[in-house]
Amino acid sequence: VNKLWIVGIGPGHEDYMLPIAKEKIKAAQVLVGGKRHLAAFSDQKEKWPLKMPLEAMMTDLKKIYKEKQVAVLVSGDTGFYSMLKMVKRHFEDEDIITYPGLSSLSYMFSKLNLSYEEALMTSCHGRDITPQVFDQYPILGLLTDREHSPRWIQDQCKNRRGKIHIGLNLSYEDEVIMTYALDQEIPEIHESLCVVVVEYE
Ligand SMILES: C[S@@+](CC[C@H](N)C(=O)[O-])C[C@H]1O[C@@H](n2cnc3c(N)ncnc32)[C@H](O)[C@@H]1O
Repeated sequence: VNKLWIVGIGPGHEDYMLPIAKEKIKAAQVLVGGKRHLAAFSDQKEKWPLKMPLEAMMTDLKKIYKEKQVAVLVSGDTGFYSMLKMVKRHFEDEDIITYPGLSSLSYMFSKLNLSYEEALMTSCHGRDITPQVFDQYPILGLLTDREHSPRWIQDQCKNRRGKIHIGLNLSYEDEVIMTYALDQEIPEIHESLCVVVVEYE
């Protein structure tokens, strides 16, 4: 009997995908994931693009996953703001196998030649981000969204000195990494594939 595979596919480019993730994706009969992620894999497979409400998709997956091998593709690492938590509300632990991936933030820190032991790594989306967070750590690694843009992050770091690094489309051909002083004017960016690292002096 099959188990549901949750596969971390890394920041995007296949060079940064673990061999085991590639192997599992190849072996799966059904791929579930964002349109962008699905497009990168063989068209011979049944593909289920994510659609809202995800709960309804989970109910549909439950009906088929034992007969057909399903791989749910998630960006970056499975253990960091991925669909894993939501999947676990619908499936028993013993029915899931998780394969990790490289997080977009760990990729970004490596590009900056920085280590992240002292950093707070979190998402700006949701309740994990409070104004205090911006003062409590020497380094922040942040997932952004349309509302919580690099500019918004810069605003939260008012009166602090240091650098803000912005990573767009990481690992893809059009990857851009920019660094500004915290008091410098930074461009308005509302890309969906964007992470920010703040490094205080
Ligand atoms: C739902 S979260 C998933 C995070 C993912 N699990 C990880 O470990 O990177 C989506 C966010 O990840 C970030 N992200 C994922 N892939 C990215 C990439 N290739 N370049 C820049 N940011 C990326 C963006 O901040 C995006 O809003």
